[in-house]
Amino acid sequence: MTRSKASPVHAADPIGRRVGALLAEMTLHEKIGQMSQVNGGESYIHDYLAEALRAGRVGSVLNEVNVDTVNELQRIAVEESRLGIPLLIGRDVIHGFRTIFPIPLGQAASWNPQLAAECAAVAAREAAAAGINWTFAPMIDIARDPRWGRIAESLGEDPQLASVLGAAMVRGYQGDREGSEHGAEHGAGLSDAGTIAACAKHFAGYGAAESGRDYATANVPENELRNVHLRPFRAAVDAGVATLMTSFSEVDGVPATANEFLLDTVLRGEWNFEGLVVSDWDSIRQLSIHGLTADDRGSALEAARAGVDMEMHGDAYLCHLAQLVEEGEIDPAGIDAAVTRILALKFRLGLFENPYTDPGAFPAAADEQALATAKRAALQSAVLLKNECKALPLSTEATRTLAVIGPLADAPHDQLGTWIFDGDEDLSVTPLQAIREQAGEEVDVRYLRAMDTSRSRDTAVFDEAAALAADADAVLLFLGEEAILSGEAHSRADIGLPGAQSELVARMSEVGKPVIAVILAGRPLTLSDIVDRVDAILYAWHPGTMAGPALADLLFGVESPCGKLPATFPRMVGQVPIYYNHKNTGKPPSPDTVVHIDDIDPSAPQLSLGMTAFHLDAGYTPLFPFGHGLSYTTFDYQNIRTDVEELVPGDSITVSADVANTGERPAVEVAQLYVRDLVGNVTRPVRELKGFRRLRLEPGERTTVSFVLRAEDLAFYGRDMRLRTEPGEFHAWIGGSSATELQAAFRLVESA
Ligand code: NOJ
Repeated sequence: MTRSKASPVHAADPIGRRVGALLAEMTLHEKIGQMSQVNGGESYIHDYLAEALRAGRVGSVLNEVNVDTVNELQRIAVEESRLGIPLLIGRDVIHGFRTIFPIPLGQAASWNPQLAAECAAVAAREAAAAGINWTFAPMIDIARDPRWGRIAESLGEDPQLASVLGAAMVRGYQGDREGSEHGAEHGAGLSDAGTIAACAKHFAGYGAAESGRDYATANVPENELRNVHLRPFRAAVDAGVATLMTSFSEVDGVPATANEFLLDTVLRGEWNFEGLVVSDWDSIRQLSIHGLTADDRGSALEAARAGVDMEMHGDAYLCHLAQLVEEGEIDPAGIDAAVTRILALKFRLGLFENPYTDPGAFPAAADEQALATAKRAALQSAVLLKNECKALPLSTEATRTLAVIGPLADAPHDQLGTWIFDGDEDLSVTPLQAIREQAGEEVDVRYLRAMDTSRSRDTAVFDEAAALAADADAVLLFLGEEAILSGEAHSRADIGLPGAQSELVARMSEVGKPVIAVILAGRPLTLSDIVDRVDAILYAWHPGTMAGPALADLLFGVESPCGKLPATFPRMVGQVPIYYNHKNTGKPPSPDTVVHIDDIDPSAPQLSLGMTAFHLDAGYTPLFPFGHGLSYTTFDYQNIRTDVEELVPGDSITVSADVANTGERPAVEVAQLYVRDLVGNVTRPVRELKGFRRLRLEPGERTTVSFVLRAEDLAFYGRDMRLRTEPGEFHAWIGGSSATELQAAFRLVESA
C-alpha cells in the first residue's frame, strides 16, 4: 500500500517530535477538524463527507465497517487533503465483531482475565480486518443496579474485578506485548496488524444513574467516586488504555462531558493520562439540554475547557471553537494539546506508515480459533445458581426423553446479546441444535418454543408444554430476556422474568419431573418466584455465538460450571441497590433483628420492629450473593491463616487457605479473598474483594491458595480525598463467594 504523504518528518523520529512538526504546519481550522468525529456507516461516501475530508474538517469517522469504503475514506484524507492526515475509524466492538462472545457481564462471570483478553484480541483482529482501528470498549462503569440496561455491557458491581478484567481487555484489544522487547511500554502492540485502540468508558459515574434509568442523573459523592467508580478507570490508565470516553450523565450537578474535576484534576492532573478523551455521541451539544449551557457555543466552550479532545457526532466544536479561540475564550495551547493527543494516537497506531487495510490480511469472519474462544468464554461465564438433588448434569442413561421448552432455546439472534452491530447470527449455534447433537440417538429430544418471545403473555400452548413435560424424564426450560431488553437505553423497572414465563415455570413444576431452568439474560433478574419451583438454575447471560455447544457441554456434564456472579442477585427489585461491598451502617441487621411482615403479631401491637437496616418484606440478604456459583463437585475451604500477624507500610502479608475438591469430578473453582478494614477515617465497606484465583482440582485433590496483600492494597481515599493507608485491624476471608465465613485477622502498624 502507498505510504502516506502526511508525515512531514522522518518515521524514525520519536512520536512527540513528529507530532510537533505536523502541528506546526496546521491551521487552526485543520486542528479543529482533527477534533471532530463524524458518522459514516452507509458503505458510501456522501459528497459532503468527501469534501469535509479534503478540507481537513474530519479527524475520525465512526460506524463505517465496509473495508473498501474505509480504505476510500483513508485515501481521500491522506491523498486529497492538504496535510494528508489519516483517520481514526471507530466502532463499538464490545463483545465481539463477527464472532460474538458473552456479553461483558457474562465474561466478568468467568473471573478469567486471560480469557477476557483473548476475546478482546479476537474481536480486535476481526474488526481490524474491516479497517477499524479504535473500539469504544471496555465499558468499566461500576453497575450496582440491575435495572440499568447497560449492566449487560459492564463488568459488574465490584471495582477490583472490573479493574482486573477491564485492564485485561485493554491489553487484548491493544495487543500489549508483555515480555517482548517493548514489553514495559504500554500499547507497544498498537501498531501491530490486528490490534486496535481501546476506549475506557464512560468517565465517570454513568453506572450510578438514578433508579437505573439510562442517562439519568448520577449522584455520587467524591469519596465514593474515588473509592469505587474511578478505580477501574485508574486501572485502565495504568494498563495503557489509549483513549477514554466521557459519560452522558451528570455527576454532582456537572455533566461529565464538561467536568473539569474529572478530566483535568483527576484524569490528567493526578493520573497523568496522556491519551485522548472523546465525548459520547453528541454529548457536547447535549450540555445545553442538561441546562448547563444556553447554546452550542457555550457547550463547545465548556467541553473544550474541561478537556474533551474530540467531539463524537456533533458540530459544536466545528462551528464554534475557532471563534472562541479568536475571541480569547479558549487558550490556543489547549487546542494544541488536544490535537497533539489525537495525532499521537494516529502515529502510535502506525496510520501514517500505512493507513489502509488489506482486505485479505485477516479472516473477516469467525475462524476456528475465534469459535473455540467463544465456546470457552460461554462455558466459563455460565453460573450454576442452584442444583438440588443433582438435577444437573443430565445423565443420558436416565434421560431417555428430554423436553426442551422455552423462547430462548432456539433463538440465534437473542443468544448474542446487546452490542452486535456486526455479529453474524448465521454463525450462532443454538442450545437446541447443540443439545440434539450431543444427545445423539440415545435421547429423544422434544422441543416446544411455548412462547413467541420472552415477553409474550400468551399461555395458549402451556397445556401442550405440560403434556410434553409429563412425557419426558427431564425438562429443560430456556428462559430469560431477549437481547433487546438490555443494553443502552433498555432499562427495566421490573426485573422479573418477562411475560408469562413465571407462569410457564409454575405449570412445569406441577408435572413432577426434574425441571432445569437455563436463563439467558442481560442482567441479574429477580428469580424469587421461580427459584423454589425448579430443581436447578444455570444462568448463562447472553452467551454469544457458541451458546449452544457450551451449554450442551455443561448440561450433559462434559464440563462442570465454574462461573461466579459478578453482581448481586436481589430477591426483589425494591432491594436495589443491593451489593456486597456496602457500608455497615450504625444499625447493621442480623438474623436476630429481622422481622418479616408476615410474622408481625396482630394481637400484640408493637411500636418498633428490629430497629436495624432491613426491609420488612425482603430482609437484608440477596437471593444470591456476589461471587456465588456452584459446581458439579464440591469444594471445601479450611485453615485460613496469615504468614505474619502484622505488616507495615511498604510491606506485604500472605493470606492462605487450604482448598479441597471433595466431590467426584475434576472442576475449576474461583477462590476469592475479601478484606475488611475495621476502622477508618471514612467508613469502610463490610467486605472488599482483594484477590481471586482460578484453581483446577481433581477429585480428592487439596491445595493451598495464597494471596499476597501489599499494604498499599489496603489504601483508600479519606476525608481529604487523598489515598491513605491507616494502621489498624483488618479481617480477611477466603472462600467461594462473598458470603464466605472463613475468617482471619491481621494488623497494619506504623513503621518502626
Ligand atoms: C453511545 C454510547 O453511550 C457509547 O457507549 C457508544 O460507544 C457510542 N454511543 C457510540 O456508538
